[in-house]
Amino acid sequence: MNERGIHARPVPVGRIAYVDGRYRPHASATVHVEDRGLQFADSIYEVCAVLDGRLMDEEPHLDRLERSLAALQIRMPMTRGALKAVMREMIRRNRLMNGLLYLQVTRGAHRRDHPMPAAHMSTLIMTARPLNVASIEKRRAEGVAVITLPDIRWGRCDIKSTALLPNIMAKTEARKLGAFEAWLVDRDGLVTEGASTNAWIVTEEGVLVTRGLSPNILAGVTRLAVLNVLSGERINTIEERAFTVEEAHAAREAFVTSASGGVIPVVSIDGRTIGDGRPGAASRRIHALYSEFAQAASKP
Ligand code: PDD
Repeated sequence: MNERGIHARPVPVGRIAYVDGRYRPHASATVHVEDRGLQFADSIYEVCAVLDGRLMDEEPHLDRLERSLAALQIRMPMTRGALKAVMREMIRRNRLMNGLLYLQVTRGAHRRDHPMPAAHMSTLIMTARPLNVASIEKRRAEGVAVITLPDIRWGRCDIKSTALLPNIMAKTEARKLGAFEAWLVDRDGLVTEGASTNAWIVTEEGVLVTRGLSPNILAGVTRLAVLNVLSGERINTIEERAFTVEEAHAAREAFVTSASGGVIPVVSIDGRTIGDGRPGAASRRIHALYSEFAQAASKP
């Protein structure tokens, strides 16, 4: 009870946002109406998983954040050390155990004009939300459906920009068709990546294939973690190369990776059953290895 005799209600998990130096309830956390993030999607973002109250893959996420900012000449809103302190404070204030921390950095507020202003003060936004672990585990146990759609994005998908219209359109189309994800396909008929995940297949010959890094895909932090974990296993049947939609349809197994879901098996692509329609052995093993690594990495 507080001093007025009223029971203080606990703050619901994931309800405190950080905007430019202030921690506020979501409803009162606002940015300037002329913020370039709002007007031009002149901004970048990161999504980090929180496991047992600890940040996963913090350094690679911050490395990528700095790379995205540098590519667009947006200033770091504060030092990396200060950013880490705010991230921890967000986890604490939101009492986040298992969830996602969202970070966004914009070029700040300016009179609306297309050219980048000569000088700017970046805006930093952070939100946190819990993850429904049970529904992710259900997806992992059953596998998900994927559809393929043309990749209509720009030529710098390595920059984690908030300009996500093509991604949200693809994801919406996928959901309409009862699929979890859309795999995007370039003009040569090669899969680039998912709308919000990296795409992987295991060929009939047992080779694990995922597209190599280039400006056409996002360098997924989970993709890198999986490759690192597998290199420790001395698996030499990994190919970082583009694969066709036909190869994907004929794959023995497939899966997607992202910070929010880890490794999620794919059991159908464009309505065609992959393998026997259940998560394959390689996908399950790769998830087990990744999850072991994630648990260990999240320990103090
Ligand atoms: N999505 N490719 C795209 C286009 C993505 O948006 C993401 C991440 C990934 C996987 O990257 P990582 O393993 O670093 O999460 C690949 C985040 C989670 C999102 O937009 O919510």
